[in-house]
Amino acid sequence: MDIAMTDEHSRHAPPPPDWDAARAGALIAAESGREGGLLPALHAVQAAFGCVPEAAEPLLASAFNLSRAEVKGVIGFYHDFRRAPAGRHVLKLCRAEACQSMNGAALAADLLARLGLDWGGTTADGALTIEAVYCLGLCAMPPAALFDGAPVGRLEAGRLAALVAEARQTGPSA
Ligand code: FES
Repeated sequence: MDIAMTDEHSRHAPPPPDWDAARAGALIAAESGREGGLLPALHAVQAAFGCVPEAAEPLLASAFNLSRAEVKGVIGFYHDFRRAPAGRHVLKLCRAEACQSMNGAALAADLLARLGLDWGGTTADGALTIEAVYCLGLCAMPPAALFDGAPVGRLEAGRLAALVAEARQTGPSA
């Protein structure tokens, strides 16, 4: 995996409104005694707060005897970790080769420009987060995406616009 593709993870964002350092510390401590506990700790923090905010980095670094830069590197490497909570809906667009070469790159660039977002960004109304994913196993139906976890194949501009409209008109998926 290309570390350079992880820029969307490195932006500064305030901690989520429900951030609780003591609770995060307890979640991290529960994993810190285990070999390979860093990833479970990161997942636990994200499950509790919807993201792994920068405020969690010193707690993780201390618990796992790592530098903060090392923790940041791990978070950036794995695209599933968010730095800020997602919107009510999440659209993951495939950025791997088969989808990119079948108009996926152009569709994504156009969508992000129209919404005024970068990868990992959320619309101002909180309706939709656009994230990158690197192959969904749907290479036979490129370009592919996941909308709130549901696979979508053979994306084209009209379908993408419909998904955005659906996100804006509806509450969170069950
Ligand atoms: S390359 Fe996009 S689903 Fe495999």
